[in-house]
Amino acid sequence: MERISIFGLGYVGTVCAACFASMGHDVVGVDRKADKVDVLASGTSPIIEADIDDLVAEGVRSGRLRATTSATDAVLHSHVSLICVGTPSAADGTQSLDALRAVCSEIGTVLSEKKSPHLVIVRSTVLPGTVREVVIPALEAASGKSAGAGFDVAVNPEFMREGSAVEDFNNPGRIVVGSDRDEVAESVFRLYDGLPGERLKTDIIIAEMTKFVENSWHALKVAFGNEVGTICKSIGIDSHRLMDIFVADRRLNISAAYLRPGFAFGGSCLPKDVRAISRLADKRGIDVPILQNLMRSNLAQIERGVSWILAQGRRRLSFLGLSFKPGTDDLRESPYLEVVERLLGKGYDIRIFDPNIELSQLIGANREFLLDRIPHIAQLMVPTLGDAVEHAETVVLTNGDKAYSEVASLLKPDQQVLDFGRGKFPGLDRQSYDGFSW
Ligand SMILES: NC(=O)c1ccc[n+]([C@@H]2O[C@H](COP(=O)([O-])OP(=O)(O)OC[C@H]3O[C@@H](n4cnc5c(N)ncnc54)[C@H](O)[C@@H]3O)[C@@H](O)[C@H]2O)c1
Repeated sequence: MERISIFGLGYVGTVCAACFASMGHDVVGVDRKADKVDVLASGTSPIIEADIDDLVAEGVRSGRLRATTSATDAVLHSHVSLICVGTPSAADGTQSLDALRAVCSEIGTVLSEKKSPHLVIVRSTVLPGTVREVVIPALEAASGKSAGAGFDVAVNPEFMREGSAVEDFNNPGRIVVGSDRDEVAESVFRLYDGLPGERLKTDIIIAEMTKFVENSWHALKVAFGNEVGTICKSIGIDSHRLMDIFVADRRLNISAAYLRPGFAFGGSCLPKDVRAISRLADKRGIDVPILQNLMRSNLAQIERGVSWILAQGRRRLSFLGLSFKPGTDDLRESPYLEVVERLLGKGYDIRIFDPNIELSQLIGANREFLLDRIPHIAQLMVPTLGDAVEHAETVVLTNGDKAYSEVASLLKPDQQVLDFGRGKFPGLDRQSYDGFSW
């Protein structure tokens, strides 16, 4: 069992302190506010939370949980310090790091006189880069020691929800640890021995970002559901019944599908139906900013794609794939068509290879859409992958079709590859290869 000090006896710190003590660890809670410390030291929880009172009472009674206002007492009597201080919004919406800086400075001051190794774990929610730019410098300045030499630092984001925090602590969806060294991550995981949940070890900066992405995702889900409900209610549809049907699909709706960063959406369905539902809301005078801005968000992604190519300063390009996804010749609202059209307008010298697109075979709305956008498309299409690669200073991978799998073997060293797909293209391990949004 470990000796742990926990800085900040708010919602996160108190729950962690009580739960770690209940697992058998020796825990000392630290807070600047003497009243919180006194309450905890007397065996009472300073926060209201399901199941916490008994855990705190039992922890204090057993001697495994105590509290102090003294950082010196806490750090000298522990091997691990968890930072759980608040990171509230400042007046301008940025994250206030005052408490974080102060606590790092206090811990660092004690570390200067501590002989044995110490591990500092950031459990507060901090923006990516904060550990590198704020936490480590503050600890180093106050301790006179170096991270990795005199002490170690890890990030272990907290995912509990208020109201069910103890339950969430004891049943984590997974435990995430960001650190520079495997041994450090392992020692954080050991604190949770006995608890379920996958252990995920990652970089510090990814661990820092995780919580923001999750909270934004949860907020997006709530707001999306509310917008759907508002539209439904206005036309007499039972939104709960509708969402029961929506969530019943675990393949595309409630799943990892569509969440891998890459290029813009397109095709004959998503843009058209997103436009239609947002016009429906407009007509009824309903303000649903998420739905009404989806096309704007997608357009911004297309703009970034064009800028990405322009920034390379290479004007001879070959696009491998023009349709919005592999295995189709449907070009309607393909974002790649938009990119090609914009670049042609800027005088770029472009070739396109897409075996799914036989100009002579295209018919109906699809053909009209293509010829309307790029009337001289026939002059840009080349018959083989080799022809496309031969032409290019930069090869642009789009929909990741298997038809391009030989590309790596055809490339010359000075050719650059830009990939709009959603994952590393097999065989492309070269310096001049870059992914869009990844
Ligand atoms: N509340 C949640 O459900 C939740 C969930 C996950 C993550 N988080 C994150 O965890 C962090 C803590 O959140 P919280 O809700 O527990 O905050 P909180 O405001 O309830 O508690 C923070 C505590 O830190 C204490 N503190 C401030 N400076 C200190 C210092 N130098 N030394 C010792 N104690 C000090 C404060 O007195 C306070 O008691 C935040 O970054 C938050 O975003 C919160």
